[in-house]
Amino acid sequence: MSKRIGILTGGGDCPGLNGVIRAVTLHAYNTFGWETIGIRNGFEGLYEQQYVDLDPARVATILPRGGTMLGSSNRANPFAYPLKLPDGRVEIHDVSKICMANLDRLDLQGLVVVGGDGTMSFGQKFIEKGASRIVGVPKTIDNDLEATEYTIGFQTAVEVVVDALGRLATTAESHERIMIVEVMGRYAGWIALTAGLAGAAHAVLIPEIEYDIDKVISCFNRRSARGVPFSIVVCAEGAKPKGGDYAVAVKGDATKQDKLGGAGERLAQMIEARTDYEVRTTVLGHIQRGGTPCAFDRELATRFGVKAVDLIAEGQFGHVAALENHRLVAKPIAKAVKKLKLVDPAGELAKTARAIGIELGE
Ligand code: F6P
Repeated sequence: MSKRIGILTGGGDCPGLNGVIRAVTLHAYNTFGWETIGIRNGFEGLYEQQYVDLDPARVATILPRGGTMLGSSNRANPFAYPLKLPDGRVEIHDVSKICMANLDRLDLQGLVVVGGDGTMSFGQKFIEKGASRIVGVPKTIDNDLEATEYTIGFQTAVEVVVDALGRLATTAESHERIMIVEVMGRYAGWIALTAGLAGAAHAVLIPEIEYDIDKVISCFNRRSARGVPFSIVVCAEGAKPKGGDYAVAVKGDATKQDKLGGAGERLAQMIEARTDYEVRTTVLGHIQRGGTPCAFDRELATRFGVKAVDLIAEGQFGHVAALENHRLVAKPIAKAVKKLKLVDPAGELAKTARAIGIELGE
């Protein structure tokens, strides 16, 4: 039997995952003569032994497609796994031993774990338990992994937001309204600030800077006084007013994180309670995660996929493919999950925004 490697995609999907699957399969086959096994739905497929054989023909047309052909799950935490009992009740169990046994049975040269902070931390725990042949590829539209400058999916999400900002600007101008656009990014403001800069927003509210509602409103007033009675606000889903908390739509539990939502509408209500401005809120939601990956994400996915196979070939297990100063490097998975990479309020991106008059609500 020829040697083989495995790949799984875990956590929330994003554009570019199929590019990684394709690059891993092609490089493994073309360069090393290895087979590739796809594990379905993240670590859920490892527990339930749901596998799919991958080969060059099977991945031939997937590069431009969003989502992941392997499926993904953001409830597949093998260390706190929701097991459905015959009577319909759900109990949380640690199924990691079963996953480890299944991994042994697969007898892989290496396993490529494509994920964000959650999936990577499961990978790290498996390594600590002795499943040493794991490498990682960082993905998430949130771009909040410390190990890498860019994660797969981020640039595409930014493109989606920038397109929406352009569309909303014309209708905002026609009706002289304040348009709030709530964007994803969880506890990090990368999508909001990057898209705000690229999409000519007038105010950008990010989780890293608690906003003062009076400052936000004074931005609209300044513009109105100049004869421009409309404004575009990018509000990160994790944005908080001074002294306030995250807007949580659904509380999380042992198996899943809090679901953020409502930050944009909360802001709209605060503005309307204090002014006569007419305000409309658009929540972009999962549109930011769907559809075809942009060229940057396709390229990055391909580079990360090739690097991940190289890491296996070189025996550099326990590492993720990462981008540093535009160069491809390997970083320990442990570093990727140690802490979230957040926007620095004193950093260059925030300074650039301030320099051109974008209101950050400080
Ligand atoms: O982490 C990616 C992300 O899209 C976040 O930006 C967002 O808060 C969350 O996932 C949404 O998760 P779900 O798809 O479970 O609603």
